[in-house]
Amino acid sequence: MLRTYSLEHSRPYQHKTSRVVPTLLCCLAFIQLSACGEFTPAPVDFTQSDIVRVGDVHTLELRGRIISSLPESAPAVNEKQAELGRLLFWDPILSGEQDAACATCHLPERAYTDGLPQAIGVGGAGRGPERIAGHTGVVPRNSQTLINTAWNGIDELGVFDPATAPMFWDNRASGFAAQAIEPIESRQEMRGNFFNQDAIHQVIEQRLANNTDYQILFQSAFNSAETTVDQVATALAQFQTGLVANNAPFDKWMRGDTTSMNARELSGMQEFVIAGCADCHSGPLFSDFTPHVLGIPEGALVTEPDSGDGTFAFRTPSLRQLDFTAPYFHAGQFLTLDAAIDFYDEPRRSENPNVRSSNLDEELLDVPEMDDGRGTIIKDFLKTLNDPVFDRNIPTAVPSGLPPGGF
Ligand code: HEC
Ligand code: HEC
Repeated sequence: MLRTYSLEHSRPYQHKTSRVVPTLLCCLAFIQLSACGEFTPAPVDFTQSDIVRVGDVHTLELRGRIISSLPESAPAVNEKQAELGRLLFWDPILSGEQDAACATCHLPERAYTDGLPQAIGVGGAGRGPERIAGHTGVVPRNSQTLINTAWNGIDELGVFDPATAPMFWDNRASGFAAQAIEPIESRQEMRGNFFNQDAIHQVIEQRLANNTDYQILFQSAFNSAETTVDQVATALAQFQTGLVANNAPFDKWMRGDTTSMNARELSGMQEFVIAGCADCHSGPLFSDFTPHVLGIPEGALVTEPDSGDGTFAFRTPSLRQLDFTAPYFHAGQFLTLDAAIDFYDEPRRSENPNVRSSNLDEELLDVPEMDDGRGTIIKDFLKTLNDPVFDRNIPTAVPSGLPPGGF
C-alpha cells in the first residue's frame, strides 16, 4: 500500500500592507531629491496605452528597449510526474551519503535558494544560511533560484524553448533534465565520498528499485516501474516547471492594473533603461541569458579562481524575486541588494586580478553612477519584480524515510 505524503504549508502569503505610508515617504524623498539637486529622474514618457500584447506577454517600448511581462499562463505540467519530482527533490536518497537533497540548497522560503554566499551540500549540517560545511567543503557558486527557471532563455517577445533553456551561471547545461544529472554526480553537491561518478547512477537506481513506494510512484507516473536516472531527471524537471511566480506588481501593471505600480516605481523602470541595465537585464526575466565579463572579485571561499564560461564571464541573472535570493552574484559576493546595485557605481576597473580592465563588457562601461539617488529609484523598480505567491509546499515525509532535505 502506498502511504500518502502530505504537505506542510510554510507561512501563508501575507498581503502587502497599506501603500499609503510608503507612497508618502516616496513623495517626500522625491521633493527632497529635486530640492537638493542631486538627481532628478527624467519625466516618464510612456503610458499604459503604449503596451502591446504579443502572444502571452505584454510588451512596452521604452527609450528604444522592449520591456516585457512574464507570460500570463504557466507552462503545462504533468501532475503525477511533478508530485513524484517533489518527493525526489526533497529525498536525500539521491545523495551518495544520503544526507543532502536538491532542497538542501533550494529552499522554498528563499525562492529556492539557500541564503548562503556559496552553497553547502553533502557532509554539511544545518539549514539555510546557518548551514556549516563538512568533509566536502563549500561549493564555489551561489545557489540559483528555481522560480521561473522553466522560462530560462525567454526573449522580449516571449519566445522560449525548454529543451535548450540555458542552465547554471555559465550556461553549461541545456534544459532541466540535463541539468539535474550534474548535482547528483557532483562530489561536493550530492555524491560525496562513498561512490565514484561512474557508480552513482546505478547506486541510485538500485535504491529506488528497492523502495516499494517509489516502485508504485514510478509505475503511476511513467507507466513503467523502471527507476532510471533519466526518469528521475524527468520527474524533477516536471516539478520545477511548476515553480512559477508570474504575477509581480510589474506584471500586473503591464497587464493593465493601474494601481500596482506607483509613479516613483515607474520612474525607476525608466531610469533602469536609461542607465543601460536593460541592455543585459532584458526580457521577461530581466536577463539576456548571455555571459558577460564584469570583473567582480572572486568569491570569499573559492579555492581556485572561477573563470565562469572560461573567459571569466557569467550569465546575467534574473532580477526577479530579489527580496528572497540574497546574497547576490555568482558567489554571493554582495550581501544586500544595495551593495549589489552599488557595484555599478564603482569606477570601471576590474576588481578581479584575473580580468584586465580592458576586457570588461562594453555595455558595462556605459552605466552611469549610482550613488546620487539613481540607485535607490532603480531599486524601487526592482522591488516590483517580487511575487511572493509560488509553490512553497514541503512534504512532511519522503519515501526513503530519511528527513526531508536532510535536515
Ligand atoms: C550543494 C547545493 C546544491 C544542491 C544539493 C543542488 N543544487 Fe541546484 N544549484 C546549486 C548551485 C550552487 C547552482 C549554480 C551552479 C553553477 O552555476 O555551477 C545550482 C543551479 C541549479 C539550477 C540552474 C538554475 C538556472 O537558472 O540556471 C537548477 C535548475 C538546479 N540547480 C536544480 C537542482 C536540482 C534539481 C537538484 C537536485 C537533483 C539540485 N539543484 C541540487 C546548488 C545546489
Ligand atoms: C554588461 C551587462 C550588464 C549590465 C549593463 C548590468 N548588469 Fe547586472 N548583472 C550582469 C551580470 C553578468 C551579473 C552577474 C555577474 C556575476 O555574478 O559574476 C549581474 C548581476 C546583477 C545583480 C545581482 C543579481 C543576483 O541575483 O545575483 C543585480 C541586482 C544587478 N545585476 C542589477 C543591475 C542594475 C541595477 C544595472 C544597471 C545599473 C545592471 N545590473 C547592469 C550583467 C549586467
